[in-house]
Amino acid sequence: MALDNKDDTDFVKFWNTVLEPKFTKYRHILQGGLSRHSAAVIPNLPLGEGMSVLDVGCGWGDMSLQVAEIVGSNGRVVGIDCVDAFLEEGRKDAAEKGLRNVTFARGDAEVALPENEFDYVVARFGTMFFTNPVAALRRMRLALKPGGQMTHIVWRRREDNPAWQKAKDITLRHLPAPGADADSCGPGPFSMGNQETTGLMMKSAGYEDVTFTRVDEKILVGRNPEECIAFALAIGPGGEVFREAGEEMAEAKRPEIESEMHGYFESQEVDDDGIWAPTSSWVISARNPG
Ligand SMILES: C[S@@+](CC[C@H](N)C(=O)[O-])C[C@H]1O[C@@H](n2cnc3c(N)ncnc32)[C@H](O)[C@@H]1O
Repeated sequence: MALDNKDDTDFVKFWNTVLEPKFTKYRHILQGGLSRHSAAVIPNLPLGEGMSVLDVGCGWGDMSLQVAEIVGSNGRVVGIDCVDAFLEEGRKDAAEKGLRNVTFARGDAEVALPENEFDYVVARFGTMFFTNPVAALRRMRLALKPGGQMTHIVWRRREDNPAWQKAKDITLRHLPAPGADADSCGPGPFSMGNQETTGLMMKSAGYEDVTFTRVDEKILVGRNPEECIAFALAIGPGGEVFREAGEEMAEAKRPEIESEMHGYFESQEVDDDGIWAPTSSWVISARNPG
């Protein structure tokens, strides 16, 4: 499969340079939390022995590996992501597990995907970042054979995911809002949270039989308040405000921001593993009519 990576968009460059080190640093929090939203979903999808599956925006690929075990040695899984470092981790983990039916490829789903090749397309928390979601969702549909199915998991609205929103609200009390031309990871984590508009996007992209299932999960947001704060100021809506304020201004305000966040995270559920926050996602499934 030839997926061009010579002319990366600014968005892909941003993921590879600014976001990748932060995501890698907090992989234990991110992968642990995101996988709680797919753990119960994947075994119930109509995936079977021998199927070919594409995982779009696969990140470190743990879900690709889970699917590879389901489709078995007669099936195959391709994980596509625009960040080289994530794919390397996926390849290492696949080799460690002895899984030969999964490959990882560098690609930008907004530019190109294989066509008419897969029985199923999955994506976990990757599609909300598309700058042109209908076009990219259509490309995912065209990656399917006629009658093939897709399932993607996205965050529900920001008010259903209070920890991310709270981190942003606190940061914005101390720092200015990012300008319209700020570097960002795309439309943002909650861009598919509205069921009605996302349903329309799916229909515009040509899907049929679109269903939404709500999943509520508590996820670990840090092993202690300090890690929760560092994570919230590195990644997600609060992290974006902090980064875009510029280092000098952000660092000057850090003590006040940290002290306010400390209070918030300490008020969340705590156990021996760390601090847990409620989160909510949509599992959206649909069919390519062909
Ligand atoms: C929040 S992470 C989720 C990663 C993984 N699916 C998981 O659940 O652990 C979003 C992923 O989407 C990838 N991504 C974003 N836009 C993309 C695009 N246009 N093409 C390919 N990958 C993309 C990012 O590199 C990142 O790995």
